[in-house]
Amino acid sequence: MMRNDIQEVLFSEQQLADKVAELGARISADYEDKNPLVVSVLKGSYVFMADLTRKITIPCNVDFMAVSSYGAGTKTTGEVQIIKDIGSKIDGRHLIIVEDILDSGVTLSFLMKILKARGAASIRLCTLLSKPERRKVDVPVDYLGFEIPDAFVVGYGLDYAEKYRNLPYIGILKPSVYGGE
Ligand code: XMP
Ligand code: MG
Repeated sequence: MMRNDIQEVLFSEQQLADKVAELGARISADYEDKNPLVVSVLKGSYVFMADLTRKITIPCNVDFMAVSSYGAGTKTTGEVQIIKDIGSKIDGRHLIIVEDILDSGVTLSFLMKILKARGAASIRLCTLLSKPERRKVDVPVDYLGFEIPDAFVVGYGLDYAEKYRNLPYIGILKPSVYGGE
């Protein structure tokens, strides 16, 4: 059973819903008349993206990107591969990048750099979770859900080995599941 693999529930379905509503309201107020392009970084942010955009009450467009991850323990070069690009023209657009979790910051700093180079009028970052202890590259976060400690979390879109994405809450995975204590 999946629940048995979870050591501790960090954020319940209700806590997540409340936070997402709060972020959606802030974005709606900040982007009135701007018709922002909301860009989700797949796959981890797919649940957050679906919930967040339904709490954005102003006109907006949505698009999706996928980037490669680098292996844990390997040296990060700062080079991140684009697996799936957005289809929208971003020249002059106001972008909001939606991420599940900000960890080292390598992925997002790379993404923000290339999207800026394509002529976006503005780029802001909305991340549900952040692990400040793990940061290697400074990334400005405009809309943050929760800061969390350095533990591996799953659920609400986040996976371990492609599992647990469908959990409606966010929990810390038992280290025994991935070969720890
Ligand atoms: P950066 O570039 O900020 O990478 O190091 C962020 C990406 O790392 C993954 N990540 C996690 N995924 N539980 C997960 O399911 C976690 O606790 C976790 N920490 C980092 C995730 O793919 C994110 O987009
Ligand atoms: Mg992942």
